[in-house]
Amino acid sequence: MVPAMTDVDDRPGLAALLAWYRDMGVDCALSDEPENWLARPGRPPGAGWSLSAGTATGDVAEAPALAAVANRPPAVPASPAPARASLIGRPLPATAPAPRLPQATPPDAAETAARTAARAAATIDELGAALAAFTGCALKATAKSLCFYRGAPKARVMLIGEAPGREEDLAGRPFVGPAGQLLDRMLAAIGLDESMVHITNIVYWRPPGNRTPTPQEAQACRPFLERQVELVAPDVIIPLGGAAAKHVLDVTEGIMRIRGQWSEVTFGAHRSRAMPMLHPAYLLRTPAGKRQAWRDLLTLRAALSV
Ligand code: URA
Repeated sequence: MVPAMTDVDDRPGLAALLAWYRDMGVDCALSDEPENWLARPGRPPGAGWSLSAGTATGDVAEAPALAAVANRPPAVPASPAPARASLIGRPLPATAPAPRLPQATPPDAAETAARTAARAAATIDELGAALAAFTGCALKATAKSLCFYRGAPKARVMLIGEAPGREEDLAGRPFVGPAGQLLDRMLAAIGLDESMVHITNIVYWRPPGNRTPTPQEAQACRPFLERQVELVAPDVIIPLGGAAAKHVLDVTEGIMRIRGQWSEVTFGAHRSRAMPMLHPAYLLRTPAGKRQAWRDLLTLRAALSV
């Protein structure tokens, strides 16, 4: 239950409210001014994912991630529905609510929109612009910024992580928080710096509360990632951590089994070698893993020097 606050000077009440927000996964402000989403003309973020009927024609511009709903025919006829039979066979009264129908954008609709937009991009900057205009990934509704990539537009090494976190969301760039700083130190240890690599994630917006992106969210972004790989044209792809490895390599094995192992991957029209490594955030929590990470870094260095 939301802690009650009687007035703004109620410090214990304020502390309890903030603690409640934190426990609910609200760990950063989306804007400087508070906003009453319920008082806005459109729907609150995520409303389109509810099952209530009759909302598909709402103001989708207010909820960008849901705009693809606008491309679908309305799920409920505009004219009054004829009397419907209830489950027990009696006609429902004329004022009965419409049946509850799923309103979420079908994942394949989001993916088709993404594929069309991504294919049209001839450069990495155009791909960034297409991503900025893309509304088919639900994560966009709650993130503050788009985190596309950092590093070189073309590079021999492309590192792909899981998802932006809080620092990345604030900065609008991937891997700039503590995990990113460790990643930079790991790369420096084998003679690489930001100008020599391309760093990105399987999704381009921060998931609320830093949860793992869902397969649907990753799939909605996938056409952009495929085009990104084509444009960067790396010799080597390094998925960082289990979620990225599973998505990039299309495998189900855990990261501990597959780290350090080479395989071939095809992304769009580009074929390259891939070797998953432990995620730097994991290494921050589990320093013992740095031994394995060091071995994998040496393997990467050897692969680059041939
Ligand atoms: N973790 C990731 O997987 N990606 C980032 O950009 C930051 C942290």
